[in-house]
Amino acid sequence: MDTLPDTQVAIGAARLPDAAEVAAADRAARHWSSSEIGRLRPGSDAHRRAMCRMFHETFNPYKPSVIDWPKLDAETLEKVTSLPIWDIAVQTEGKARLRMAAYARSLADPELAGAIGLNGWEEGRHKEVLSRLVEAYGIKLEPEPEYHEPSDPELAYMITGYSECIDSFFAFGLFALAERSGFFPAELVETFEPVMQEECRHILLFANWLAWHRRRMPLWRRPWFEARVAAVWVFLGLERMGLARGMGDAQGAAEGHDNNFTVTGSKSVSDEEIDVAELMDLCLSENDRRFSGYDPRLLRPTTMPNLVRFARRFIRSKAEKQQAAERRALRRRRAPAAA
Ligand SMILES: [Fe+2]
Ligand SMILES: [Fe+2]
Repeated sequence: MDTLPDTQVAIGAARLPDAAEVAAADRAARHWSSSEIGRLRPGSDAHRRAMCRMFHETFNPYKPSVIDWPKLDAETLEKVTSLPIWDIAVQTEGKARLRMAAYARSLADPELAGAIGLNGWEEGRHKEVLSRLVEAYGIKLEPEPEYHEPSDPELAYMITGYSECIDSFFAFGLFALAERSGFFPAELVETFEPVMQEECRHILLFANWLAWHRRRMPLWRRPWFEARVAAVWVFLGLERMGLARGMGDAQGAAEGHDNNFTVTGSKSVSDEEIDVAELMDLCLSENDRRFSGYDPRLLRPTTMPNLVRFARRFIRSKAEKQQAAERRALRRRRAPAAA
């Protein structure tokens, strides 16, 4: 893995943190307020300072090399090893690391370059966590493809950022479902908890970078930028419908592995019968919960929660359908009496 960014060297010192330090780091990673006074106007220097400080000050110094992987019984081991996600997960982290590092290097602003560079470093750490998990549980991976430096670092960061906004939104819900159902042992869920919260920080940074970047660019560049944003959404939509494999993105390269697991994977992480509406509600509430500790003046990613909230209006849960049926039956019973 790459060396720790300079600003974090002190945190990653040779001595291992004790339990109280780990708990304090975990809390600090989830709660943060800016010392800037007043509104954080998107595009302002105060906004840039706040998002970059948020990212550095919520850094969690856990070390993948000291994670104690829990021993799993045969049944759980089978569930974990048969999840169709490991190749894609490892490759996605590898690509994200490279893309974020490339975009950070292209930036003139040292604060922003530092924050996005650290984000890339954290993706490398996620890759290491996954590699160690795979090794600990004997999961066989396909050989990794070669990772190429992006020729357009800004576009590559946008693809990774939006992709994380989609995947993290659903992953938050699935993760809560896995925890609630006890489908996986609590120690394993706990081990992944910092990774999950880190993804929340990543998309918080991305949403704020996007708003800041939009406001800072000259007006004549905006139409081109918005066209690129639209193209990224079309690409990610097609990719998730399984239509964009081989369109320059290696996520679908691992045959037989599920690029869309975060949307379709509820059965793989829980025995619980959960319908689509309930899963949507869980994703929405988990999304709100994970962002709730950060300064409310920072912007949140809104597209996925808004889309799901809109779709939810037309999708009823089993409980809601049952209540509606009961109300109809009650009305029918009352109608002849009234007549
Ligand atoms: Fe990651
Ligand atoms: Fe990430």
